Amino acid sequence: MTENKVDKAILGVPLRGGLSTHTALALATGRYPLLSLTRLIGIFCLLILLTFPVFAQHTPSQNFNRGWKFDLGDDSLAKQFAYDDTRWRKLDLPHDWSIEGKFDEKAPATTNEAALPTGIGWYRKIFTIPVTDKGKNIFIDFDGVYRYSTVWVNGHLLGNRPNGYISFRYDLTNYLNFGTKQNIIAVKVDNSGQPNSRWYSGSGIYRNVWLVKCNPTYFKQDETTITTPQIDVKSASINISANVQRNSYVYTKIVSTVYDAQNRVVATGSSFIESENLTADLTIKQPHLWSVTSPYLYRVKLQLVSKNKVLDTYQSNLGIRSFNFDEHKGFFLNGRTLKINGVCLHHDAGALGAVVNKHAIERQLKILKEMGCNAVRTSHNPPAPELLDLCDKMGFLVMDEAFDMWKKKKTQSDYHLDWDKWHKQDLVDQIKRDRNHPSVFMWSIGNEIREQFDTTGIRIAKELVAIVKAYDQTRPVTSALTETDPKKNFIYQSGALDVLGFNYHQELYPDFPKNYPGQKFIATETVSALETRGHYDMPSDSIRRWPHNGKDPLKDGNADMTVSAYDNISAYWGSTHEETWKVIKKYDFLSGMFIWTGFDYLGEPTPYPWPARSSYFGIIDLAGFPKDVYYMYQSEWTNKPVLHIFPHWNWEPDKVVDVWAYYNCADEVELFLNGKSLGVKKKQGDDLHVMWRVNYEPGTLRAVSRLSGKIVLVKEIKTAGKPAQIELIPNKTKLKADGTDLSYITIKVTDAQGNLVPNADNQIQVEVNGPGFIAGVDNGLQTSLEPFNSSSRKAFNGLCLAIIQSKNYQGKIMVTATSAGLQPITIFLDCNK
Ligand code: GAL
Repeated sequence: MTENKVDKAILGVPLRGGLSTHTALALATGRYPLLSLTRLIGIFCLLILLTFPVFAQHTPSQNFNRGWKFDLGDDSLAKQFAYDDTRWRKLDLPHDWSIEGKFDEKAPATTNEAALPTGIGWYRKIFTIPVTDKGKNIFIDFDGVYRYSTVWVNGHLLGNRPNGYISFRYDLTNYLNFGTKQNIIAVKVDNSGQPNSRWYSGSGIYRNVWLVKCNPTYFKQDETTITTPQIDVKSASINISANVQRNSYVYTKIVSTVYDAQNRVVATGSSFIESENLTADLTIKQPHLWSVTSPYLYRVKLQLVSKNKVLDTYQSNLGIRSFNFDEHKGFFLNGRTLKINGVCLHHDAGALGAVVNKHAIERQLKILKEMGCNAVRTSHNPPAPELLDLCDKMGFLVMDEAFDMWKKKKTQSDYHLDWDKWHKQDLVDQIKRDRNHPSVFMWSIGNEIREQFDTTGIRIAKELVAIVKAYDQTRPVTSALTETDPKKNFIYQSGALDVLGFNYHQELYPDFPKNYPGQKFIATETVSALETRGHYDMPSDSIRRWPHNGKDPLKDGNADMTVSAYDNISAYWGSTHEETWKVIKKYDFLSGMFIWTGFDYLGEPTPYPWPARSSYFGIIDLAGFPKDVYYMYQSEWTNKPVLHIFPHWNWEPDKVVDVWAYYNCADEVELFLNGKSLGVKKKQGDDLHVMWRVNYEPGTLRAVSRLSGKIVLVKEIKTAGKPAQIELIPNKTKLKADGTDLSYITIKVTDAQGNLVPNADNQIQVEVNGPGFIAGVDNGLQTSLEPFNSSSRKAFNGLCLAIIQSKNYQGKIMVTATSAGLQPITIFLDCNK
């Protein structure tokens, strides 16, 4: 890494993995004969950079997202250096062309993949490499391309990669031009084989791309492991093992340093290395432990030093934690029992499609954290690295999952076609990439794999577990199983799983210790309840399963394809939220669960056909607005006082309405309608909510929760008048002027008094001026066919969303929302460097 990298760092281009070798060297040796002002500023900026946690796990690298060209088509000549791409569209990565397209009932991808276009696309980027980089090893890293990518540099084929979720690297070194002579990277992405997924995948280079420049002696990618073999209150031992590419046998030293969260050195060591493989042992005194409530991170820095020169630097987060599963008592983190209160997440970011943006992921995780969620399952594929970085930082346990199918297909053109050739490499690459993340606590080798039903399940399960163990022996391996008869489940029969994972069947959990003696258990997937935010059907106290027993949701369900948001409807293989949580809560041996799903996702719109195009399973809708059941979990999973009553209070005269309340930190709730008490209710036994059946009259519904007679919380819902005004509620008012930061603005249609109008569907126009633009709009309605990349959206049940993305310059972003007949509103966001 040289000048180039330092200058980029100063200019604010995102870096991964820390110090420039050049600057590190200069700082370490005290050279810089003439410290120019620019250099001083540079050093100052780098010092600032170092005071912030570094989440990267890789060798120093430069973000390579800017300045690409794209063509939705398939001209094979585009791999050639001299190809004329002047008519191609200019864009920055990450990019997903599917989300930009129109919903189409006839799309080959079907509504399971959100009925959006797929096909073939090409990307090209021109770049130069300074002469000073001659002699270095130069790589390009793709975090993920969906799918069947083929990459050329200067017309030379580098390779192809079928798996759309795996990260991969190519070595460019031998094919590059230096100085002013240009280089061209060309990438073909082929997502035309359809259908190939049971959910929305997106299409394109939808994750980040990095350029990595290494000295001839460098840490090999993903070959460094950092483990903590012994942890107690007094000390933690840290074992580091790395693999070094050496160009000659010059004396090379490895300097290992561990910093605490305040950037103070807490352990350091150095030793000469004699071969490619090296190990180092360090000790941290009185370690701060990493946990889901206190995700304390150390930073490990490894430097390869030869003759006082830093040849390469590797940095990684380190979270010191221990955990184990117990067949009787469930899961323990740092010696204490912890129920795994997890959710399954698919990888899409709603209106942004598959495009990876760390601010979008961070928002999702914040919403989940507020609910009390402490774990995420990356269903059913390797996640974006940014998700793991954020889970390390924010305190989520991660079940890192590899596959949704093995050799036996689930859809016609899915990964089963590539299984034989690629599964080993893909699994190895996933484990090696993710194994230093403290958040990752389990590996899953597959979801509802068809081979569990026949004896091939034994062989493949053993093979996959052996692959995982060859690269990581510190985490248990599971698989999300569905066959509950131990004699008929061949993945279970393989004996290879450390922890048994089961999807659904909560009614069988109590028999589990009897049926699977000596086994540890986790509910890898649960619930699959169905809900549309803000829609309520009465009565609410009978449970329905769809589609089931000849019940056709099209007849039994709603003509507008909504599903009631009382927690009383689920897929026939699933349960309501309450049904499963009651069982998980009751038994200690059940270490926890992953609910299907945290957020609604694009695709799989069970139980409805077109025009439904996104899922109904989320606790939170596609736009990120919580459904009511969010507060059931919040009341159970957090200690903060919760009182949530629903539905809204705008009904036909004399309608009989079921009013539910979720609450905690109290022993009773009293409900009042227009000042008249409708009675006090207390949860009995394992109840998770209370309910009143109320004859509707307009006015104010008021709930009061009390503990031993003292008021804990009061909540009111008022009958709203006509839509009169718009409220804009940004989740962030200060953005970074880096072209990637996001503010999610909730757009609320209210009456003249400011009450949410619960059925408002006004068409809202959003206008943005200054250093920002609209990255997407949404309203959480599963059947909406309005485009996501638009400046206009209908409110759905009173709400819609605009996602504002920063540009690269400073200033005030002005956001104005207007709608015919409503009072318009303008707000400002600050956009700063
Ligand atoms: C499960 C499956 C998930 C999703 C879910 C919907 O069986 O593992 O991927 O399809 O059903 O209920």
